[in-house]
Amino acid sequence: MGMDAVAQTLDNIIIGQSAPVKDLKRLIKVVAKANTNVLVLGETGTGKELVARALHSESGRKGKLVSVNCAAIPSELLESELFGHEKGAFTGADKARAGRFEMAKNGTLFLDEIGDMPLALQSKLLRALEDKAIQRVGGGEDVPVDFRLICATHQKIEQKVDDGSFRSDLYFRINVFPVQVPTLAERSVDIPLIAEAIFCQMAVDQKIVKPKLDDSAWRELSRYPWPGNIRELRNVLERAAVLFAGEVISGAHVKENLLRLKVPDRREEQDALWAASANLAGINGGEAVNFEQPLPHPSHYADWFSYFDTIDLRRHLRDVEVVLIEAALGKSEGMVSHAASALKLQRTTLIEKMKKLMIERPTPPKSESGTKLNPNLPGKG
Ligand SMILES: Nc1ncnc2c1ncn2[C@@H]1O[C@H](COP(=O)(O)OP(=O)(O)OP(=O)(O)O)[C@@H](O)[C@H]1O
Ligand SMILES: [Mg+2]
Repeated sequence: MGMDAVAQTLDNIIIGQSAPVKDLKRLIKVVAKANTNVLVLGETGTGKELVARALHSESGRKGKLVSVNCAAIPSELLESELFGHEKGAFTGADKARAGRFEMAKNGTLFLDEIGDMPLALQSKLLRALEDKAIQRVGGGEDVPVDFRLICATHQKIEQKVDDGSFRSDLYFRINVFPVQVPTLAERSVDIPLIAEAIFCQMAVDQKIVKPKLDDSAWRELSRYPWPGNIRELRNVLERAAVLFAGEVISGAHVKENLLRLKVPDRREEQDALWAASANLAGINGGEAVNFEQPLPHPSHYADWFSYFDTIDLRRHLRDVEVVLIEAALGKSEGMVSHAASALKLQRTTLIEKMKKLMIERPTPPKSESGTKLNPNLPGKG
């Protein structure tokens, strides 16, 4: 990796000012200076690689950051990649070659996707860490190594330890300091800052004309759950730059064209305008569903008891189920199997739930009624 040209500050590497990200940066500062092994944990696309880069840059180690993605290199090549090899060690090894362990001298070795390292290599890695020395493939001599080890994984390594596919002694060795990277949903307030940074990078790399996002667009982005985290956000923003170069993006665009990959057409534009003007005029008025309100993230419920003393948990969960099931049925125009797959339920499970919750199928297309409200439902508490 050649990231060493410009001295990068922690705030440049890890964009964001949300509370969880501030905590993360504080932790990185402290941990970077200690020479301990670090295990970076976090869902896919959360920026684990950037955390490794930040740890290296804050560590002040003179050597390079050397990265190896254990999942991307075929296991039969991984060993010589890490340990290097002597001339003639295997067919095709026409010269001796230093491995990544040696290349990381006085620097940092980043083993990404460590959970995918084959068992045989895990033993060799453990020995290298214990001896602070390695042997190249096909070589007999000990070569001293001096690197700071950072590992990352999006997998549950404990589970792999339990089922025997990851050595527990290695796990304890690499996990001296776990650093958990928050999901994008936990730090959705950072989205505008991250988006700005990503648009700037794209403007340099790809000469794009930045689109503008209006308030409803930002709201849509912040309520979306982002299963692919920042990598997914980056993809969405790239799509935005292509579909809406220099234009204004609305919440409807975000939902229809950016999160769902539909190319905008005039009709949709008009629908969006209608929706917007209806909101302005208060036509939806009264106690109609407020579409601007994001679905609460489950973690938001953690604050409940700061404001209230009780919650009728069963009733609340049931209400949520009813509303989502009715919405799915409404959208599928009463097609139970479609609704079931939208809800990621088995069809039979959905039917059972509909019976139990006394939810009726909305009467198909002709009727104006859309989702029929269930008369047996208690009002929203
Ligand atoms: N704070 C951030 N600001 C801007 N871009 C970011 C940030 N964090 C991550 N990214 C970008 O998101 C993408 C994913 O980051 P990265 O590759 O580090 O994720 P990861 O956690 O290693 O994911 P995986 O587990 O899938 O390997 C990269 O393009 C990265 O540049
Ligand atoms: Mg990664």
